[in-house]
Amino acid sequence: MDAFVVHGGRALSGTVRVSGAKNSALKLVAAALLAEGRTIVRNVPDIVDIRVMGDVLAHLGVGWQRRGDAVTLDVPADLGTETPAHLVKQLRASIVVLGPLLARCGRARVAMPGGCNLGSRNIDMHLSGLASLGARITYGPDYVEAVTPQLEGADLELPYASVGATENLLMAAVTARGTTRISNAAREPEIADLAGLLNAMGAGISGAGTSEVVVRGVEALQPAVHEVVGDRIEAGTFAVAAAVTGGDVKIEGVSPAHLRIPLGKLRAAGAEVDEGEGCLVVRGPARPRAVDVVTLPYPGFPTDLQPQFLVLLSQAAGTSMVTENVFDGRFSIVEHLQRLGVDLRIEGHHAIVRGARQLEGTTVQATDLRAGAALVLAGLVASGETVVTAPEHVDRGYADFAGRLAALGADVSRRAYAPAAGVA
Ligand code: EPZ
Repeated sequence: MDAFVVHGGRALSGTVRVSGAKNSALKLVAAALLAEGRTIVRNVPDIVDIRVMGDVLAHLGVGWQRRGDAVTLDVPADLGTETPAHLVKQLRASIVVLGPLLARCGRARVAMPGGCNLGSRNIDMHLSGLASLGARITYGPDYVEAVTPQLEGADLELPYASVGATENLLMAAVTARGTTRISNAAREPEIADLAGLLNAMGAGISGAGTSEVVVRGVEALQPAVHEVVGDRIEAGTFAVAAAVTGGDVKIEGVSPAHLRIPLGKLRAAGAEVDEGEGCLVVRGPARPRAVDVVTLPYPGFPTDLQPQFLVLLSQAAGTSMVTENVFDGRFSIVEHLQRLGVDLRIEGHHAIVRGARQLEGTTVQATDLRAGAALVLAGLVASGETVVTAPEHVDRGYADFAGRLAALGADVSRRAYAPAAGVA
């Protein structure tokens, strides 16, 4: 078993380049299914989730080849239309093949994605939207199947601005007969990125990135080449690492406009944040100030930066309140932060954090991707040695997390770890 091993107390400095956004690349490669031929996606992060999505697409018959940071997808005329349970279990995001398979083949069968460490992860909005577009949805013991002779454009209203539902419905609608309107669509930058590829493939999408998206159905799509937008969550993670260690870090490969509210919160906490073309510089304060945070769909504060901010606020002078409105299970990190000495309590979907506590290194466990990254950040400010086990969670979304933090001066390594006898 291996783990992240961190010795705290160092201020980070230097420059780090973030990769293409995981939460865009996963959907861009699924969009390639919509056109026979070779689509190329550039700036694709080399992370576990992308490799699993590659297995999903290969299972469907797609030729998948990585060349540096580009992925080449050779999509055949005849595609498989079933995504098996063992792959969906590894990557719930693979349900975004539903829309493109339905649009391209008129059929898709996907194993029902389970919940995850973030709580329930329903797909009811995906399925009701597809049904409104003319799909017949049936359920098996552990799968859902959608079938249609031809999708028909429709006016869709999402009860909640779901990212995945917006993406699935966008991809289903591109070759539907007629026009589709998606109201209350998710506005995340990754949606606009997906629409950018789809339009390059010949789709007729307007309004992507706003809450009203219109899709004019076209006959067929053609392969295209597209570069993935920079990963705002990875950038935000390194920005918090700089702020919490009192460091001075330049973060390249991201648009500061995609981090408007989190950067505002870092400034309110006393960090200096300079914005440049495709980059930002974060200088941390000696002691952060307490700030309140409320997670919301974009452009609100992203839930994917909530655990990292809990670590920052554990060092702030004063008490902060962090409210989680997106995932009902996103406080799984709390018990591990408390083991490190963070003084926080949960009241409903609020975390009340009393700051300025000196954290003491110990062994903690990553419970999901962002919680794992946040625990490593906590190790950067804890005294002594912090060991973060279950690092595979972090590998899902961060390539070489230890190496990139170490390049900024952190004392972080990734090595084999044998728990002392009797320690969990
Ligand atoms: C995407 O998840 C991201 N994952 C998440 O990032 C991110 O936290 C989330 O969007 C919000 O920004 C990927 O893009 C692969 P949602 P997604 O549909 O699409 C409920 C990370 O760490 N809901 O906006 O699943 C759902 O249960 C990951 O990179 C329904 O009830 O997010 C959740 O409570 C974690 N029914 C909320 O909406 C539905 O049909 C947000 O879900 C769909 C969603």
